[in-house]
Amino acid sequence: MEQFVIEGNRNLSGTVNISGAKNAILPVMAACLLAPGKSVLRNVPILNDLKAMAHLLRVIGARIDYGKGSMSIDSKDVCYSEAPYELVSKMRASIYVLGPLLARLGEARVSFPGGCAIGTRPVDLHLKAMEALGAEITIEHGYINAKAKQLVGADIYFEKSSVGATINAMMAAVLAKGQTRMFNAAMEPEVDSTIDLLNKMGAKISGKASTTLTIDGVEELFPVEMTMIPDRIEAGTFLIAGALSTSPITVANCEPGHLGLLIDKLREAGCILDVGESSITITPPTKIKPVNLITLPYPGFPTDLQAQFSVLMTLAEGISYIEDTIFPDRFMHVAELNRLQANIRMDRNVSTIKGVEELSGAEVMATDLRASAALVLAGMVAKGTTTVSRIYHIDRGYDHIENKLNALGANITRMDL
Ligand code: EPZ
Repeated sequence: MEQFVIEGNRNLSGTVNISGAKNAILPVMAACLLAPGKSVLRNVPILNDLKAMAHLLRVIGARIDYGKGSMSIDSKDVCYSEAPYELVSKMRASIYVLGPLLARLGEARVSFPGGCAIGTRPVDLHLKAMEALGAEITIEHGYINAKAKQLVGADIYFEKSSVGATINAMMAAVLAKGQTRMFNAAMEPEVDSTIDLLNKMGAKISGKASTTLTIDGVEELFPVEMTMIPDRIEAGTFLIAGALSTSPITVANCEPGHLGLLIDKLREAGCILDVGESSITITPPTKIKPVNLITLPYPGFPTDLQAQFSVLMTLAEGISYIEDTIFPDRFMHVAELNRLQANIRMDRNVSTIKGVEELSGAEVMATDLRASAALVLAGMVAKGTTTVSRIYHIDRGYDHIENKLNALGANITRMDL
């Protein structure tokens, strides 16, 4: 199993280029099932989660080919409607095939995703939305069976803001008969980019970037080419690396408009941010100020940056409070950061972080994707050597993070044990 061996060094400098957004590409790959023929996605990095989705689409009957930074998905011959347990259990985003398969084939059999390291993560909102559109749903032997000869437009009220349920319901509704309205829809940029793709394919979705979406069903969709948006979470992770550094770095090929609250919070911590059209230069403070934050649906502070921002606060001059309202159990990194001599206490879904002078290198274990990114950042600023094991988590969502950090001056070695 691979691990990172990290020699502490806070002296980063230079420019890092941000890759395409994993969480925007995953739903768009599934959406390609709706338009028989070959669609091409550009700005696609090499990530294990994308490989897992490609595997699932192949099982369903699609043909996937990789080009340089691109991926083509030919869904002409899609004919199988089952997403098996061994694939869904590896990646929850597999649930994204439910809406497209139901809309295209009139049925879907998708393994029920289990829990994961960041919490229980139910899919009830996905299922309620499919039912509202007229699907008959049964759950048997750990599988969701969904059937509908013809989906029919409906009003869907989401009890909670959910990225996945909004996108899944949207992918089902684009081919439904009549009009669908969605209330309390999620507004994340990844929802918007799925809307862009579907509209390009011929769908009629209005209300982008708002919580109310209106979808007028169409008879068919057509394959398209699209360039994917930059990954706001990767960009945020590197901005936090810059905040932890001793000299400025530039995060390029990003979309600053997707990073509003993080930019504010980094300024509150004492950083200077020079925001351009598609790049941000961050100058770290000499003393990091404590900052409180709460994670919320977009445009609130993203839960996917909570662990990384917590690392910054471990070195702040004072106490900060961090609350995760999206995934209340997403604090597995805390015990590991405390092994590096951070001072963090947990009370339910709120961490109290008392800043320390320095972190001290140790052996730690990654538990999920963003927690592993946090541990890499912590290892980079800790004194001495840190080893981070189970780094397969990080390869799910970061495109060679160690190469990008090493190019900025970090000292991270991938070791195969
Ligand atoms: C997406 O997950 C992302 N995954 C997650 O990123 C991200 O943390 C999350 O959105 C929140 O921003 C992908 O895009 C592939 P949700 P998703 O449905 O869609 C509850 C990463 O690290 N809920 O918006 O699964 C849920 O428990 C990953 O890249 C229900 O109760 O998240 C949570 O409290 C991890 N019932 C809240 O809604 C449901 O049916 C928001 O979750 C669905 C969700």
